[in-house]
Order: sequence, then structure tokens, then C-alpha cells
Amino acid sequence: MERAFLRKLIALCVICGLASFALLGLVAFRDGKREWKDYQQEYQSLLLEKIDRVANPVFFQRVTSMKPEIKQVMLDGLGRVDRCTTCHLGIEDSLFTGAKQPLTTHPDPRLLESHPVEKFGCTICHGGKGLATTYDGATHQSNAHWPDPMVEKGFMQSRCGYCHNNYAAIEADELVLGQKLFKDLHCSGCHKVDPGDGVMAPVLTAFADKGTGSFDFTHIDGDHSRQNWVLEHFKNPQKVTPGSPMRIYAMNDTQLKALTTYVLSLTERVFTRDYYPNEKFVAEE
Ligand code: HEC
Ligand code: HEC
Ligand code: HEC
Ligand code: HEC
Repeated sequence: MERAFLRKLIALCVICGLASFALLGLVAFRDGKREWKDYQQEYQSLLLEKIDRVANPVFFQRVTSMKPEIKQVMLDGLGRVDRCTTCHLGIEDSLFTGAKQPLTTHPDPRLLESHPVEKFGCTICHGGKGLATTYDGATHQSNAHWPDPMVEKGFMQSRCGYCHNNYAAIEADELVLGQKLFKDLHCSGCHKVDPGDGVMAPVLTAFADKGTGSFDFTHIDGDHSRQNWVLEHFKNPQKVTPGSPMRIYAMNDTQLKALTTYVLSLTERVFTRDYYPNEKFVAEE
């Protein structure tokens, strides 16, 4: 009898514990939702400081009456929806040069001119979770739990290779070097990238499409990101994949980084025609 009562009491405690946990979680969740509203308020006050009220009364009025809202670009041709500009509000506005993140202007405004935000969004180049409206949710860390978290700054050129194949024309020096190394080091003796390459090893034509979760990080020291897996694997394939038959020449850091950037540009993702620069359809050889 007493024991049954005790059991009920314990069960009750557990339930109460769980309930308060859930409540805490809910509060944290709601706080997380405030994040972007705070940035929008900050943006509004900064913008008001920058506008000459007398010279631009209409614009001033419009900014004064701005309400917090989620900003999103629908990118049907890329199969995504990006909300990054909900926080990165000054990204296209030269008035925000030198402002702090996330309100500052893009470091390479010319890139946004050739790839307008309303057509390209952000995640096609940066990776990350486009629909998210929190800093963590957008997966700013390249080792975040998401198949395609944000690309580390030094590896950004991997994304240019999704659409461009004339690397020299867009001054993508990492891709130029990476592709050359791939040839010179006879990687294609084992790995297929082009028709006619070897097939003794994993086909690499869609290597960039492999999500973070498909890599085995058991033997990786440091960051559990795709970039770091590839770098470490290139330094020592047998350490990362015990028993691997892959042999590789020693490379310096520049070469390692370029080759990593190149293999992480190999995709089978297909976008609509208007996302490819004309060069892609011009035969190379
Ligand atoms: C909730 C607001 C918020 C959203 C949504 C957001 N960001 Fe950010 N982002 C920030 C903040 C804040 C920083 C600055 C962090 C710091 O300096 O520590 C930042 C920094 C960055 C940086 C600089 C590198 C870094 O990690 O510090 C990049 C690149 C970036 N964001 C890209 C994106 C992309 C792409 C998206 C959409 C997938 C996105 N952001 C969505 C708030 C946001
Ligand atoms: C065409 C590809 C491309 C698109 C589209 C693009 N970016 Fe970038 N972005 C880059 C590259 C490349 C860099 C690195 C530039 C550099 O520092 O040399 C960069 C740098 C940045 C940085 C600074 C990173 C740092 O660590 O300092 C931020 C922030 C950023 N981008 C945010 C965005 C946001 C937000 C969008 C969407 C509105 C966007 N970008 C769209 C290619 C792109
Ligand atoms: C989703 C596909 C896509 C991605 C990813 C992409 N681009 Fe582009 N890029 C284009 C298209 C489409 C154009 C427009 C070409 C045109 O108008 O002929 C373009 C234009 C350009 C131009 C201007 C070329 C010219 O002749 O006007 C440069 C430079 C450029 N891209 C560099 C880059 C770099 C650097 C990256 C990576 C950081 C990148 N692009 C990523 C599709 C892409
Ligand atoms: C002797 C054949 C051989 C050569 C040469 C070779 N590899 Fe490999 N590679 C393999 C095998 C087998 C694997 C799978 C086992 C492993 O993870 O090491 C592999 C794995 C990889 C992976 C990971 C693939 C995945 O999906 O996990 C990449 C990337 C890679 N190699 C790139 C290269 C590059 C770049 C070169 C040239 C510098 C190269 N390989 C040379 C045999 C080879």
C-alpha cells in the first residue's frame, strides 16, 4: 500500500520536473525569437540617425513607422527560402559600411551587384539554414548540426564552383589551384570527377552534397566541420579512415586549402537555367 503511494509520489515529482523543464524551454524559445526584433530596432535607430529629416521628410516618416517584420526572399529556382536579411539589414546599404554585425554592409558589394539578393539570397554562397530567425538556428558555426552549415570564410570559393566553371574568369584563385592539383596529383586515377576517370574510390562528382552528418569524425582532432574533415583526411588519409588505400603527396597549407575548396565545390545540385552564367554552356575543350 505505502509503496504504491510512494511510487505515485515519485511519478508526480517526475512529471512536475518535466513540466517545469518544458516551461523553461518555452521561455528560452520566446527569448530567442526576440533576437531579430532587437536587431531591427537597432537598425531603425541607426538609420534615423543617418537620415536628414529636413531634406527627406517622407523617407524619415517611413522609417519612423517601420514595424518589426521577418524579411524573406523566395528562391524557387534554387529551391530555398532565405531569411538572413531579417537580421543582416544593412547588407546592401553603403550607409552601413563600418556598422557592427549583423547590420554592416557586405564586405564585397560588387558580388551582391552581380548576384542580387532578391534573386540569389545568401545561403547559396554561404550555406546555413535560410529559414532560421535566430543566430544559432541559422548555423553560423561551420560545425553546427545541419547538413549544410555556414562555410568558413577561407573556403567561400567552394560555392562559386556550384555555378561557375571558368574559375579564372571570376578570379577564383583557390579553385584554379585546386583543380590543377587534382590533375597534377593524379587523383582522377582513382576518383571519378569527369567521364573516363578511375572508379576505384568514391565518386566525387557530388562530394559537396554530402551533409555534415555523413562524415565519420571519430579520428578527427579539432573542428567537426566538413572543411576540417577534408583537410585532415588530405594530411593523413589512414588516420582519418583507418585502412584507407588512398595515397597522397605531402602538400603545404595553401595547397591543402585549395584542394579542399575544390572538392567541396563538386556538386550535382541543379538550379534553373538563369542561375548559370553563360560560360557553363560553352564547351571547354
Ligand atoms: C538572428 C539574427 C541573424 C540571422 C537570422 C542571421 N544572422 Fe548572420 N550574424 C548575426 C550576428 C549577430 C552576427 C555577428 C556575430 C558575431 O560577430 O559574433 C552574424 C554574422 C554573420 C557572418 C559573419 C561571420 C560570423 O559568423 O560571424 C556571416 C557570414 C553571416 N552572419 C551570414 C548569415 C547568413 C548567410 C544568414 C542566413 C542563413 C544569417 N547570417 C542569418 C545575426 C544573424
Ligand atoms: C555570390 C556569393 C555571395 C552571396 C550571394 C552573398 N555573399 Fe556574403 N560573402 C561572399 C564572399 C565570397 C565573402 C568573403 C568576402 C571577403 O571577405 O573577401 C562574403 C562575406 C560575407 C560576410 C563577412 C564575413 C566575415 O567573416 O567577415 C558577411 C556578414 C556576409 N557575406 C553576409 C552575406 C549575407 C547576409 C548575404 C545575403 C544577403 C550574402 N552575404 C550574400 C559571397 C556571397
Ligand atoms: C547560383 C549560381 C552562382 C553562384 C553560387 C555564384 N555565381 Fe557568380 N554569377 C552567376 C550568374 C548567373 C552571373 C551572371 C552572369 C551574367 O550575367 O552573364 C554571375 C556573375 C558573376 C560575376 C560577374 C561576371 C561578369 O562577367 O559580369 C562574378 C565576378 C562572379 N559571378 C563571381 C562569383 C563568385 C566569386 C562566386 C562565389 C563566391 C559566385 N560568383 C557564385 C551565378 C552564380
Ligand atoms: C589509390 C587510389 C586513390 C588516390 C590516388 C586518391 N584517393 Fe581519395 N580516396 C580513395 C579511397 C579508397 C577513399 C575512401 C577511403 C577513405 O576515406 O580514405 C578515398 C577518399 C577520398 C575522399 C573522401 C570521399 C568521401 O566521400 O568520403 C576525398 C575527398 C578524396 N579521397 C580525394 C582525393 C584527392 C583530392 C586525391 C588526389 C590528391 C585522392 N583522393 C587520391 C582512393 C584514392
